Amino acid sequence: FSLKKYNTFSIEAKAKQFVAVHSAADLKTILQENKSQRKFILGGGSNMLLTKDIDALVIHIDLKGKKIIAENDDFVWVESQAGENWHQFVLWAIDQNFGGLENMSLIPGNVGTTPVQNIGAYGAEIKDTFVSCEAMTRENQKIKTFTKDECHFGYRESVFKNEVKDQYVITSVVFKLTKRNHKINTSYGDITTELAKNSISNPTLKDVSNAVIAIRQSKLPDPAALGNSGSFFKNPILLKSDFEKIHQQFPEMKYYDVSETEVKVPAGWLIEQAGFKGKRFGDAGIHKNQALVLVNYGNATGQEILNISKNIQETIFKTFGIHIEAEVNVI
Ligand code: EPU
Repeated sequence: FSLKKYNTFSIEAKAKQFVAVHSAADLKTILQENKSQRKFILGGGSNMLLTKDIDALVIHIDLKGKKIIAENDDFVWVESQAGENWHQFVLWAIDQNFGGLENMSLIPGNVGTTPVQNIGAYGAEIKDTFVSCEAMTRENQKIKTFTKDECHFGYRESVFKNEVKDQYVITSVVFKLTKRNHKINTSYGDITTELAKNSISNPTLKDVSNAVIAIRQSKLPDPAALGNSGSFFKNPILLKSDFEKIHQQFPEMKYYDVSETEVKVPAGWLIEQAGFKGKRFGDAGIHKNQALVLVNYGNATGQEILNISKNIQETIFKTFGIHIEAEVNVI
């Protein structure tokens, strides 16, 4: 079974077996019936690089549905099933005038995988609106609710990538969104610039969403047209003391303070400076408008993309003494 359509990198890789599940009950049955089989859980396929065929039963999480589970004058609690497309969910929320997700418009993938790496963009992260999620243990199909605290969210991190890695399947997520007094967040520079272009000074949720969509479309490739998995690397976080030494050598290096003691350096800048931006090696390459994004021009293999990523990591380390880590899951 070809997985090419099930990963946004559009890598050709085969699954030994494939099944799509549409309800938690289905999922439970499939897990029970295949106890001894190796299993691989597949959500939206937007944050992984397949470097080989999957010798396992691939279970595609396709649970659909969303509903309001509680509300008061100010807030609404919305529950979405894991298989809902993230961007469609964001647009739906904006249409209802529910605020909090608009800065994360147009991020590829499904709702159920958003907590795994605490997705974020343009000044917002999922943890800002996340309340809880339900997950099923792969081992014995018990349901557990993870509260926000239990998720241990960090920059592109959560408990699901660490302490309980590969143990649970997230089936639904609850978000707390605003009904009024929306916290419009235009702190990310590009948003202000984009709004100013359209002379918008008092932006609505929709205006912010449209601005984010315009920015993303101007620099991030659409996976439907050019295979990619968004940022391939995380932006490295350095101790200020280490950074200061590097900064003396490279005074033009960009950085953002993240705490009293740490700074974040845009990996895209490092990759661009190292000369990789827009480079193409066969069908694999580095995007011309955003060096953090690796792309598949058609028939690249996962291994070819992985090799480029290693080449980038080594060059960055040699040039700047900074280690950059993959954000994408390499399978
Ligand atoms: N930059 C360059 N050259 C490049 C790309 C970036 O010099 O080719 C420098 C520029 O100085 C720019 C700065 O990096 O000002 C930041 O760039 P950008 O605003 O595009 O954001 P980013 O740090 O590269 C992060 C997220 C993106 C998210 C944007 C906007 C990570 C790993 N990536 O990228 O998330 O959309 O911020 O918030 O944190 C993703 O995770 O898949 C993703 C696309």
